[in-house]
Amino acid sequence: MNSFHGRTLAGIAATGQEKVKKGFEPQVPGFRQVPYNDLAAMRAALSPATAAILIEGIQGEGGIIPATPEYLLGLRQLCDQKKLLLLMDEVQCGHFRSGRFQSFQRILEGVPEGEKFLPDGISMAKSLGGGFPIGAFWVRAPYADLLGAGSHGSTYGGSPLACAVALKILDVIHREKLADNARHVGGYFKSGLEQLAQKYPGISQNVRGLGLMMGIELVPNIPNLPGDSSKTQASRFANLLHAAGLLAIPAGGQIMRFLPPLNLQQSEAEEGLKLIESVVAKLAA
Ligand SMILES: Cc1ncc(COP(=O)(O)O)c(C=O)c1O
Repeated sequence: MNSFHGRTLAGIAATGQEKVKKGFEPQVPGFRQVPYNDLAAMRAALSPATAAILIEGIQGEGGIIPATPEYLLGLRQLCDQKKLLLLMDEVQCGHFRSGRFQSFQRILEGVPEGEKFLPDGISMAKSLGGGFPIGAFWVRAPYADLLGAGSHGSTYGGSPLACAVALKILDVIHREKLADNARHVGGYFKSGLEQLAQKYPGISQNVRGLGLMMGIELVPNIPNLPGDSSKTQASRFANLLHAAGLLAIPAGGQIMRFLPPLNLQQSEAEEGLKLIESVVAKLAA
């Protein structure tokens, strides 16, 4: 529930948000949604026909909600016991955005047995191409050769140009230590957002995220928030940020989401925080 798995038909069917499904019926059958970070709910939803469990490491569209370490380890155990595939959608939260290659590595840092955790499949895109369009998925042996060459594809699938770009991006990420950058500048940005939340409790009530994937939860019914009141608070807040010169997008109706480039410098994070504060201070006045 509250997941987002993209706009392919099966991705729409997998997604746990009604608004995404509208207009795309009939749904690809066989998907069931359960509350996130709730192992008991997942266990209760299994049937003898269940083949796989699919989750985001950090729910993006759903409001920047990281999986808990207990949830990840519990799902792995459940999948091993019941012989199910554990699939992770790392399209938004993966590829170094969290400060590690995949978000589950960051979430499980320092957790006993955490470094041994592996899902059975991982989908990747977004930061994979550094802005150039490419998506990919990784599948663990012994499933890796279930799809042979030619058994699935798309016009742009396997494009040599996109693959060359993604390899170059990987070089740049290593050379410029962008995983560490995401962690450190992300930490700086997050603590700045937390300070803003403390200073303006009437606007922001909660800050969360990992690395350079962050969100602030807006207080319900902010009195001075301009814009069309049929629109969500987050989209009206986003319009104010855009007008101030900062690109950010809503996640759900109440969360302002920040996904800056992985090479964001601390001085740029500081500039961004100032822009956010200029908007927040006006609303709080
Ligand atoms: C978690 C997640 N999965 C998948 C997608 C996109 O998938 P597609 O390109 O198939 O629409 C997104 C895009 O925002 C996403 O956040």
